[in-house]
Amino acid sequence: MGLAFKPNIDDLRESPALFIAEEVVQALGTEQCLIVEPNIDEHKKFALTTCEEAVREADIVAFLVSHDEFKNLEIPNEKQVLDFCGVRSLSAQKSVKQSPSPPAIALSNTKKRVMAVFGTRPEAIKMAPVVRALQNCAEIDVKVCLTGQHREMLDQVMDIFRLRGDFDLNVMAPNQTLGDVTCKVIQGLEQTFKEWKPDTILVQGDTTTVLAASLAAFYNRIEVGHIEAGLRTFDKQFPFPEEANRCATTQFASVHFAPTLRSRQNLLNEGVDPTTIHVTGNTVIDALYQALEYLDGDEKTLAALDERFRFLLPDKRLILVTGHRRENFGDGFLEICNAISDLSKRRDVQFVYPVHLNPNVREPVNRILNSRDNVTLIEPLDYLSFLYLMRRSDLILTDSGGVQEEAPSLGKPVVVMRDTTERPEAVDAGTVVLAGPHRNRIVEHVSRLLDDKSCYEKMSLAHNPYGDGKASGRILDVLLDAQVTGIEIYRPEKKAG
Ligand code: UD1
Ligand code: UDP
Repeated sequence: MGLAFKPNIDDLRESPALFIAEEVVQALGTEQCLIVEPNIDEHKKFALTTCEEAVREADIVAFLVSHDEFKNLEIPNEKQVLDFCGVRSLSAQKSVKQSPSPPAIALSNTKKRVMAVFGTRPEAIKMAPVVRALQNCAEIDVKVCLTGQHREMLDQVMDIFRLRGDFDLNVMAPNQTLGDVTCKVIQGLEQTFKEWKPDTILVQGDTTTVLAASLAAFYNRIEVGHIEAGLRTFDKQFPFPEEANRCATTQFASVHFAPTLRSRQNLLNEGVDPTTIHVTGNTVIDALYQALEYLDGDEKTLAALDERFRFLLPDKRLILVTGHRRENFGDGFLEICNAISDLSKRRDVQFVYPVHLNPNVREPVNRILNSRDNVTLIEPLDYLSFLYLMRRSDLILTDSGGVQEEAPSLGKPVVVMRDTTERPEAVDAGTVVLAGPHRNRIVEHVSRLLDDKSCYEKMSLAHNPYGDGKASGRILDVLLDAQVTGIEIYRPEKKAG
């Protein structure tokens, strides 16, 4: 009885009574609860009823707010009364017999409440297998909060993995600034935490969503689990702002899911408590395996993809391109586009470039590359289509983090258009080479791979430095028992060949 913040008002904001009512409904189910708030006509979540009906039908009457309407209610003796606000002791009602010590009832749901918060394409891909694993675990109550830092590119992933957001902050605006996203995510999450307060939030990676969500959780004293923790370039400006985002998130997190032993070591070097670090492998490999299994088992989708990419010419080498890094905006993208333009003069190659939706990327790419006849610019692809193209490609030119992790598993050489990488494992394994955003170096590396068979073969050995497809299971194990020891950690295979 009562949802308001104070007696005899209709303001529900910040009301502990509202929060308690939500918990009770969550624990017992809507059918078991009758809710009364005499100062409002309707509520967006609860169907409200009258004092009289509630008192007549309920077995237990719980007073959460001391509204005047409750003071003189006639309550039959056989009902149990839980008076949390002193309304009945203040009342002149003499006939009410209060149970001296009401039996304890389970008001709260004992399941651990975990909220996965994400907002961009790569976070969604890497979080999808984790959310799946949590949803299949009876001991965890999981909710998905989308920040909507991306929209179309995020929705594509949600559709492919058949996920839906329980909350959506919907923050994306055209050409947004870092500050816009940060403020909107923090404010949106503070509100969301009032509606459903998790025990733990999970964030993934290094985006502005990750930084803002972990800060918002930290301010609200909610535990933060950081997936893909500990990657470092050791240069705050590269990638910008992701390196700083990831380092800062380490400060707010209390559980760190490091994908590799090297990322674990980076955290240890920064003084992170070793008992809070768990080496899991990267969940991107879980996503990759799940998506490939689906793709290969679905002839109809494969046939549709063959049809969609019928324009690919079998006598040409396919080079797949992606690029979007902020530090490459301006001169970097001019260098990248000019390198592709130079290489496209070769008659033995064909470029396919799904162009990121960031306007700072689209403008130079469209201007410089639109007229090249063996460069095909297309819209960002859904994950299955992109994997299909990766598999059909001969080599990949990218500045993407996720693509650097997936391509070695598919045996595709990658030329990275960055000077530094926080993913050195694939460079060490020999499947990735750094060319920077420099026209001449990109042309040089790509030409060598096209012309030197032995160099190509060396780089195209399938290798898995980032995971074995079981990272989400390991993350789930940790969440179920934060004290767990001796979890089978992820150890990369030895370099093939
Ligand atoms: C963001 C992340 C980056 C990540 C990348 C993955 C930050 C600072 N950047 O960069 O770490 O590698 O996502 O792709 O967190 N847009 C759309 N629709 C979309 C997505 C983007 O129109 O679905 C356009 C909008 O104009 C938006 C702009 O792209 O304002 C930039 O989006 P934003 O998320 O700020 O940066 P990204 O470059 O996508
Ligand atoms: N990807 C996709 N469609 C595309 C391009 C990339 O699904 O058109 C996938 C890719 O397989 C990888 C992820 O998106 O898993 C990488 O995202 P992005 O390059 O945007 O971000 P980063 O990994 O650099 O943060």
